Amino acid sequence: TEHDECIGSVKGQLAKLFEVSFKVTVPNEPDVEPLVAACNGKFGDYQCNNAMGLWSKIKGKSTQFRGPPAVGEAIKNNLPTSEMIESCSVAGPGFVNIVLSKNWMAKSIQKMLVEGIDKWAPLMPVKTAVVDFSSPNIAKEMHVGHLRSTIIGDTLARMLEFSKVKVLRRNHVGDWGTQFGMLIEFLFEKFQNFEYATETAIGDLQAFYKASKQRFDADPAFKKRAQQAVVCLQGGEDKYRRAWAQIREISRNEFHKVYQRLGVHLEEKGDSFYNPYIPGVVESLTKQGLVEESKGARVIFIEGINKPLIVVKSDGGFNYASTDLAALWYRLNEEKAQWIIYLTDVGQQQHFDMFFKAAKRAGWLPPGDSSYPKASHVGFGLVLGEDGKRFRTRNTEVVRLVDLLDEAKSRSKAALIERGKGEEWTEEEIESTAEAVGYGAVVTVLKFMDFGYRATPLFICCMLMLESVQSSGGLKGTLVLGHKDERDLGLHLLQFAEVVEEACTNLLPNVLCDYLYNLSEIFSKFYSNPECKVIGSDMETSRLLLCEATAVVMRKCFDLLGITPIYKI
Ligand code: ARG
Repeated sequence: TEHDECIGSVKGQLAKLFEVSFKVTVPNEPDVEPLVAACNGKFGDYQCNNAMGLWSKIKGKSTQFRGPPAVGEAIKNNLPTSEMIESCSVAGPGFVNIVLSKNWMAKSIQKMLVEGIDKWAPLMPVKTAVVDFSSPNIAKEMHVGHLRSTIIGDTLARMLEFSKVKVLRRNHVGDWGTQFGMLIEFLFEKFQNFEYATETAIGDLQAFYKASKQRFDADPAFKKRAQQAVVCLQGGEDKYRRAWAQIREISRNEFHKVYQRLGVHLEEKGDSFYNPYIPGVVESLTKQGLVEESKGARVIFIEGINKPLIVVKSDGGFNYASTDLAALWYRLNEEKAQWIIYLTDVGQQQHFDMFFKAAKRAGWLPPGDSSYPKASHVGFGLVLGEDGKRFRTRNTEVVRLVDLLDEAKSRSKAALIERGKGEEWTEEEIESTAEAVGYGAVVTVLKFMDFGYRATPLFICCMLMLESVQSSGGLKGTLVLGHKDERDLGLHLLQFAEVVEEACTNLLPNVLCDYLYNLSEIFSKFYSNPECKVIGSDMETSRLLLCEATAVVMRKCFDLLGITPIYKI
């Protein structure tokens, strides 16, 4: 398969060599996991730190070694020969340092240029993953929090997809619940024939929702009809189902505009999709003895948390937790996902914590967090306004996403005009650059504001860098990493796979952002060094190949980060 063709990261390849050595060095210690890490060139390029741990395991049992350095020495001597390794040495308490072979490095980079960067995909331990992201609520405005979920989720999905994981990109929209009774009744009131209630006819959906809520709060008769409407909807009455479908459709079209602008793909499976699965799931949890009565509700108690997880409300209805349990059941059993990743703001952390623990109690997920199937919640910070409160506009509305994107685009357009690009560039170039820069800036800032720092310099710097890097020399000639700056750049390029792997494994896309930033610095150092002159030097072909490889990796970083690079500014 495609997967088998991937060799994985440099770190992973070295780990395999160490595994072979361990089998010979300590034959009675099975399954020792190699601890290999990149080490910034002080003693080598990579270091293996197993000697001390192994020593403490074997010291009572064997007289073969006199201490960790001797274990390290043996690990080194038993390493199989490999063209990857130029030299290795043992330092301190048995650290085994590896210096990579320059020839092998150059060959690997050149191979990537020929075969494509997909060959540098890391090897992930899962085949199928669900990324549950964006997930706004129908008939409410999509807000900045949903934008963050959208773009961080998209990046994680892209990184996993690059790593050959089949990703089910799920938009778990809030499209079910009592608020629909109110909306349906209001729709009936406003439109004689509700089938004509399109988004154009309704106009501002947020205003529509608010007006219906006002109506609900002010008029007891309306309230009663709305509550009746919920019963009719849940009973499957045709007219009510159709009105509900209409509201969903209108909302969906609104959300779609945002996804389109950001180039994000999602498949909608909302609350209503999982609703039919809830009774069966609750029943099976009850049969397992997990569900108990508490204050009229049916709940699952979670160790270490003083309030239980409510799975059936006291009125017999289901809630957010019951839906999420049913959705998790579906994803594990029907979709056979081995990793289910959720992106919401940190405000929902406890919900996820509790329902993951319930799933572990039920035996759906293994205990702990180191084995699969696994569920993970990525909680990002709330977006705050200048007043330190939730980001809102002057009239106390939550900031509308479309407005934010419009504003970003128009500001970057103004900046381009100010720089005189109006005379130089075509209208089309201005528009597309304004979009790339404007949306890119919003995306970058929102994606990395939790990690804050240097998002903006990174963004600008790398965009500019791509311009100089772009000098493609074709794929002819041989790449040689003669100069230290060339070797440093080559090594950083080769570490791309392990960085993506780390970003995926720990669900931290900012790791890739850091990598890209460092890449631009390391490239600059090489490119501005007179000793590494590119055009017109003896080494021109080789250096052009190195520039080309940098461009390929940089472009892939931008692609995985969901940012459209620009080539002139
Ligand atoms: N609709 C929810 C909200 O806007 C987010 C849903 C997240 N996904 C999930 N499976 N709970 O807060």
